[in-house]
Amino acid sequence: MVAVKSPQEIELLAEAGALLGSILDVLVKKATAGITGKALDALAQDMMQDAGGVPVFLGYGKPPYPAAICVSVNNQVVHGIPNDAPFREGDIVSIDAGLSLHDMIVDSARTVGIGSVSAQHSKLIKVTKQALDLGIAQARIGNRTGDIGYAVQSYVESNGFEVVRDLVGHGVGYSLHEDPQVPNFGSKGAGTALVEGMVIAIEPMVTIDSPDVATSSDNWSIIATSGKVAAHEEHTIAITKDGPRILTA
Ligand code: MF3
Ligand code: CO
Repeated sequence: MVAVKSPQEIELLAEAGALLGSILDVLVKKATAGITGKALDALAQDMMQDAGGVPVFLGYGKPPYPAAICVSVNNQVVHGIPNDAPFREGDIVSIDAGLSLHDMIVDSARTVGIGSVSAQHSKLIKVTKQALDLGIAQARIGNRTGDIGYAVQSYVESNGFEVVRDLVGHGVGYSLHEDPQVPNFGSKGAGTALVEGMVIAIEPMVTIDSPDVATSSDNWSIIATSGKVAAHEEHTIAITKDGPRILTA
């Protein structure tokens, strides 16, 4: 069942999303050579709690996720657990965060290069951001989740990259993961119909050479089996009469 949110709930989600966006702005700015994922995680927890929010990733799932943010470095695609290894020039780092404020949940991620990165990796990040924007543009009443997936997949593949199939975007708002699934691949006109008040997280995960991923021995980190760098961008979006509304901008 796909839950729809009331206009009042969407305003609360927008408030949570604005806070999460501002927290990600800080984390992205701090993500430079020498800083650790653990330091960013501590900062994220402080910023969330200071604003009256709750870090929803912390304790989520099985085994309980041990941090407030995911920090996925290089061939880690998503769900990287923050650790004590300082970022190095040339690393590609995805920072994913989820926040509950007034009992409404938002989820967003960004990928950054540390210092100067290779031309291929900077293209990978750019294509992933653009793929997210193109997916968001399809998040309209009357479209279906397949329209989003088609827009993301066709753009990514026409740029010579691959989309991960094993993980998907999702409904969000009352809980972190709700129906519907929002794949980053698909066919126009297929999938779940998008209706007013639906709130979804669109999150393209883009890889080089192969879309295949595997779970690491820590039971959380998802890695690209190619060993190549991956990128991940995510926004929480409301489907409104006026079109897609990005809640986590
Ligand atoms: N944006 C990630 C997702 O939707 C959030 C993972 S939460 C975690 O999968 F707790 F599992 F890390
Ligand atoms: Co998500």
